[in-house]
Amino acid sequence: MCGIVAAASQNNVINILADGLKHLEYRGYDSAGIAVIENKKIHSYKREGHVSELTNILDKKLTSNIGIAHTRWATHGKPSEINAHPHVSDNNIAIVHNGIIENYIEIRDKFFKETKLESDTDSEVLAHLINSYSKENDILDAVYLALKEVKGSYAIAVLDKNNADEIIVARHGSPLLIGVGENVNYIASDAHALIMHTNKFIYLEDGDTASISSKEIKIYDTNKKPVQREIKKSNLSLDSNTKNGYEHFMLKEIFEQPEAVKATIQDRIINNTVPKEILGPNVDKYLSNFNLVQIIACGTSYHAALLAKHWLEKLAGIPCQAEIASEFRYRKHAVQKGTLAVCISQSGETADTLSALRQIKQEDNYVGTVAICNVPESSIARECDSTLITHAGPEIGVASTKAFTTQLVALMLLIIVLGKRFDVTDELEKSLCEQLKTLPTKIKSTLDLDNEIAELSKIFSNKEHALFLGRGSHFPIAREGALKLKEISYIHAEAYAAGELKHGPLAIVDENMPVVAVAPNNVVLEKLKSNLEEVKARGGKLYIFADIKAGFKSDEISQVFEIDAPMNPVAPILFTIPLQLLAYHCAIIKGTNVDMPRNLAKSVTVE
Ligand code: M6R
Repeated sequence: MCGIVAAASQNNVINILADGLKHLEYRGYDSAGIAVIENKKIHSYKREGHVSELTNILDKKLTSNIGIAHTRWATHGKPSEINAHPHVSDNNIAIVHNGIIENYIEIRDKFFKETKLESDTDSEVLAHLINSYSKENDILDAVYLALKEVKGSYAIAVLDKNNADEIIVARHGSPLLIGVGENVNYIASDAHALIMHTNKFIYLEDGDTASISSKEIKIYDTNKKPVQREIKKSNLSLDSNTKNGYEHFMLKEIFEQPEAVKATIQDRIINNTVPKEILGPNVDKYLSNFNLVQIIACGTSYHAALLAKHWLEKLAGIPCQAEIASEFRYRKHAVQKGTLAVCISQSGETADTLSALRQIKQEDNYVGTVAICNVPESSIARECDSTLITHAGPEIGVASTKAFTTQLVALMLLIIVLGKRFDVTDELEKSLCEQLKTLPTKIKSTLDLDNEIAELSKIFSNKEHALFLGRGSHFPIAREGALKLKEISYIHAEAYAAGELKHGPLAIVDENMPVVAVAPNNVVLEKLKSNLEEVKARGGKLYIFADIKAGFKSDEISQVFEIDAPMNPVAPILFTIPLQLLAYHCAIIKGTNVDMPRNLAKSVTVE
């Protein structure tokens, strides 16, 4: 949520800020702004809309050695130029902020009752607060004093007109890193914004504050004690920031899935076994004493959790609960002794999941925490006992695709390791490993459905609503298909367990309601077929994604798309692919912004 980029250099930083914002745009894109110090004055430029709206108005002659910039996803105050960051106080202090200041009304009433605020944001009060403390303190102290008043989450970067060489930054609950350069240092919400300039990063920890100039980086902990943080080398490639010839990041990422899955299993399956060492040095803390699993996640990652629950219970006989993090964190739990917590998150920064994890760590009955995560340096990855990184590579499209399929692959590896003390025999382990190894090739063949699905989308994209049906371990896949469709094409879609149709949703089925069915050749196939007959009998049009052996034929009411997905536990992963393509092609026909759908952002670092 919101992207921050900033730089202090011996040279002009304008292009660094503008390019950085473009690479962070996936985090929020309803307005953008930049503030620099030039001739001892703060100059600020803001625009509603995408980053290009801002860069179009930037004076080509503008130069400065220091500046902060922001791309916004609105929380307090609608998307508008006034509410865009930076917020400038008294022409003295400019700040950019990611996160939510929960007590901003209290702060406003306590300190600024007489001040006319310009914006409706929570962030503007923080700019005024820092400014008022800066009258009698140096800027670092002013930031410390202001943040003492704040409840909520933040990553901030602050410019002070009277201190034109340094930027003060602080983080609590929202990610922020420092990029280390030669005669230049950078700040950003994530490494994508800076990888073209440096691969050396310092990941700030919660409670850290830092002062950054072109020559120096000084980091302090919550008590203002200087601290050292390790400089890490990133292996992000410049390539991951480009579409590589594809029209959209989403399409590129869908087609990257064979490679992403291959990378996720690589070196983790050895002679058809999965060693416990894939979970790192802390695995023994929980491996021999856990007896049930609690999974926590949001959105697409939650759909991965739902499928993992099926797998854990069916394949390993391990009891499992899966819950949406935003619900989990606000209810009382009856936690059983010996619970292992698993957090699934592409970004590793999702506020609800992170906060649920932190609650779990306070509770004695949990014996360990495992992260399934795509970003090794993220908070969730760092704060769990074990982390199984999904090697999907950076996912830029807001709609999660390759992150989802690689999460499923990583979860299957985890289940194999956890299940050895339960029902996963050597024989089952071997068979699951073999299935995982065939996945990249099978995904490649499933991607061949692309043209057929593009054709289908010509009809589908005219619809206003759609129903997605699945049963058992394929119900989470139907849910994911519905989420993908609504997220990027804005067609309202709902998923139901097919057996639930007759308990209500069948009432909305008629010739205008397309019904998408996920039809593997498994034990509930005949039951699913009966459910689909109920749809046909009501005139509903069916689009069936079926295994080649499931015995479906197209007719005037149903159109069948065949997938070679043998009846085995990893089949649901293959059924995901055509549903991603369906959402993509519908969005293209509807002309929506595929990579940056309205109202959303990639990394949800606010509640
Ligand atoms: O980074 P996370 O996996 O924690 O993100 C969770 C959700 O915000 C995310 O999966 C979201 O639902 C996707 N944009 C859906 O495509």
